[in-house]
Amino acid sequence: MNREDFEMLKQDIIYFDNSATTLKPKSVVDSITDYYTKFTSNAHRGDYKTSLKVDTLYEGTRDKVKDFLNAESSNEIVFTSGTTNSLNMVVFGFAKYNLKPGDEVIITKTEHASNVLPWLELADELGIRIKYAPLDENLKLRTEDLLKVITPNTKIVSLAHVTNTVGDIRDLEGIGKMLKERNIYFVVDAAQSAGHRKIDVQKMNIDFLAFSAHKMCGPTGTGVLYGKEKLLEKMRPINYGGGMNNFFESDGSREYKSIPTLFEAGTQNIEGVIGLGAAIDYLEAIGFDEIEKHEKELRDYLIDKLSTIENIDVLNKNSEAGNVLFNIKGIFPQDTAIYLDHYNICVRAGNHCAKLLKEELGIKNTCRISLYLYNTKEEIDKLIETLKNSKNIFEVVI
Ligand code: ALA
Repeated sequence: MNREDFEMLKQDIIYFDNSATTLKPKSVVDSITDYYTKFTSNAHRGDYKTSLKVDTLYEGTRDKVKDFLNAESSNEIVFTSGTTNSLNMVVFGFAKYNLKPGDEVIITKTEHASNVLPWLELADELGIRIKYAPLDENLKLRTEDLLKVITPNTKIVSLAHVTNTVGDIRDLEGIGKMLKERNIYFVVDAAQSAGHRKIDVQKMNIDFLAFSAHKMCGPTGTGVLYGKEKLLEKMRPINYGGGMNNFFESDGSREYKSIPTLFEAGTQNIEGVIGLGAAIDYLEAIGFDEIEKHEKELRDYLIDKLSTIENIDVLNKNSEAGNVLFNIKGIFPQDTAIYLDHYNICVRAGNHCAKLLKEELGIKNTCRISLYLYNTKEEIDKLIETLKNSKNIFEVVI
C-alpha cells in the first residue's frame, strides 16, 4: 500500500529490513527539508518569527505524541535520540536512584541489547539482580509465566512490546494489570511496535515507554521516552547543559527547569522531532488497523511460501509480527544476505542485537525478513523465486 509515497521504492529494490529502519514517505522528507530551507532556527531560544514557528512545531509534536500514546499529559513526553537513549535514561536516571541492592529487575532472553546491557551495568554498579522470565516452546513470553519469577523483591519488569527476532507480541494490557496489582514498575521497549500497532499507555498501565522515530517512517536520531508524570518527577537527567536550567551561579547554586524540558539539555534534534510529527500524521492517516491487517496477510503468505522450500528452515513459524527468521540449510546467514543483495533484496543477517537469543534458539545467526506497510506479495514471490534458485549461491557470493 502507498508505495508511491516512498521515493526509495522507485529504485529496483525490495526492502525487507524494516525492523532495522523503515523507509521514509515524501511528507516526512518534505517536513525536514522545509525546516532546513524555509525556517531554520533553534527551538525555545529565539524571539523572532521563524524560531517561534519552530517552537510551535516542536511542541506540537509533543502534543501529537501524547495523543498517539494516549498519555495523560504532554509533560510525560520527552524527546530523546532514540529507544536506546530512552531506556538508558530510565536505567541511569530513574532506576539507579529508586532501586536498592537486592532489588530485582525482570527481562527476557529475547530482549534487544538496549534492554539488557544498561540493566547489567546497573546490576554491577548497584547490586540489583537481573532475572530472565521463562519463554514457552515458541520462545514467546506468556503473561502467566512472568509470575514464576516475580518475588517480593521484584521492582521493575522491562520488556519489548514486540521482539525484533521471534516476533512475539507481548500482552501489555494483561502484564500491566498484573504488575500494577503488585506495585512493580512496567518499562516497555516499543521500538518494534510503535509504527505497527496502537499503544495506549494508560490502558496498558505502562510506567515508562521508549520508541524511535526511524522505525516508524520518521528520521533517525530521534525518539521518545514516555514516563508517568509522577515518575519523571523522580527521575534525574543524564545530560546537563543549556535549555534545561533556569539559572546557575559560580557558588554552585542552580535551578533546573521542570519536566519534560529538564531532560532535553542542549540543542535537540529539531528536524527529527518535526519529522516524527509528520510520520505520526502519515501513519494515522493510513490507520493502524490497516497496517496490522496488511502485515499479517503478508507474514502468513511469506511463512507459507518459505515453508515449501525444502532446504530452508523457518525458525519462528509462529511469529505474530512482521518479522520472520530463516536460514538456508548449511549456508552462513550473511552469505544468504549477500546472495539476496545481488538481486537487490535487502534482508538482515546476524544476531540482530539480541545476543541472548542463541541460548534459547540454539542458533547464533539467522536471516531476518521484516515487513512493513509498503511491501507486497509480488515482492515475496520474487524473494521465494530467488531462494529457490540459491543452488548457485557460491557463484554469486565470492
Ligand atoms: N534494532 C534494529 C534491528 O532489529 C537495528 O535490526
